[in-house]
Amino acid sequence: MTKELRKRKDRKNEHIDYFMKSNYKRSTLFEDIYLEHNALPELNFEDIDTKTVFMGKKIDFPLMINAITGGTDFSREINVELARLAKKFNIPIAVGSQTIALQNEDSRQSFQVVRDILEDGIVIANLSASSSIDEVNSAIDMIRADGIQLHLNAAQELSMKEGDRNFKGIIDNIKNVVNSANKPVIVKEVGFGISRNAAERLYNVGIRYIDVSGAGGTNFIEIENMRNDEYDFTDVYSWGIPTALSLLQCTGISNELNIIASGGIKDSQEVVKSLCIGAKLAGISGQVLRHLLDGGFEDASNYLKELTYKIKVLMLLLGKQNLKELQNTPYKIKGELKELL
Ligand SMILES: Cc1cc2nc3c(=O)[nH]c(=O)nc-3n(C[C@H](O)[C@H](O)[C@H](O)COP(=O)(O)O)c2cc1C
Repeated sequence: MTKELRKRKDRKNEHIDYFMKSNYKRSTLFEDIYLEHNALPELNFEDIDTKTVFMGKKIDFPLMINAITGGTDFSREINVELARLAKKFNIPIAVGSQTIALQNEDSRQSFQVVRDILEDGIVIANLSASSSIDEVNSAIDMIRADGIQLHLNAAQELSMKEGDRNFKGIIDNIKNVVNSANKPVIVKEVGFGISRNAAERLYNVGIRYIDVSGAGGTNFIEIENMRNDEYDFTDVYSWGIPTALSLLQCTGISNELNIIASGGIKDSQEVVKSLCIGAKLAGISGQVLRHLLDGGFEDASNYLKELTYKIKVLMLLLGKQNLKELQNTPYKIKGELKELL
């Protein structure tokens, strides 16, 4: 094994290890979105319908398991469990960055296992937004992906000792990729949010799926800081656009733009609020991973069972029978979120 590959594998495992040790708390600002209770919903709980279509396939809930890992033995084990969860709940799953598997054939199986388990379900590939079109097509082919996420992670790279320092040319690269890729392209952050200006620039080069991945959940400045013996980034932990603010900035740009809510999504109120303000789906990484590593498959499965049950409960309490109706729910914005808007 080359030194470079060893380092990449170590980094993958360290990300999971340090994620579990991270504990800095930031707000998503979802608490500043107010939805009104409907005391007369005139609905039967049995008729609440959470099904939708994403990337041309039917899914049971407006949720996805967002990008986490792949490339090592440990991440293969995690991917097996995540894929079983995605299959059980019939929701999409994105794999972690596949760069390692483009460079090393032995790492591929840890990603391919997700497609093997999902069969016809939605599996989404993942690479950096500076990847070439050949790399993008290889990542898609590797797991017969339904689409690909290209991640934007400048804050993470800059707080990583060995990270990238040059972010020039990324928007041109995204334009190239989206014009030549044979599957839908999602551009996502990794926990620092996407502003309206950035979203408009992405839309203008042809991007039709944006995952805001805002601040308030997994914090890669904190995670990288634990790996960095050169600089101390503790004072930058609060950086980023809170998820609710990022969502409000990105929804409303165009009906053609599909917005995915992620970054600190843990509970049913956050999912339902995301959909009310215009998101198509909510993505979860950290909370599912934490349940899986702390309590195993059963615990993670119970978490998703409760979450999906309570999404239905809240839909009924809003008087909304299906997701289309839910997406037209009026809401009010208060406090810090209102101030920032
Ligand atoms: C351990 C770990 C590894 C991650 N690796 C990737 C990755 O390889 N590619 C990516 O786009 N996002 C990656 N993410 C970021 C997530 O997809 C997501 O954008 C971010 O964690 C915010 O969501 P959360 O608060 O639900 O965790 C990773 C997250 C975690 C927790």
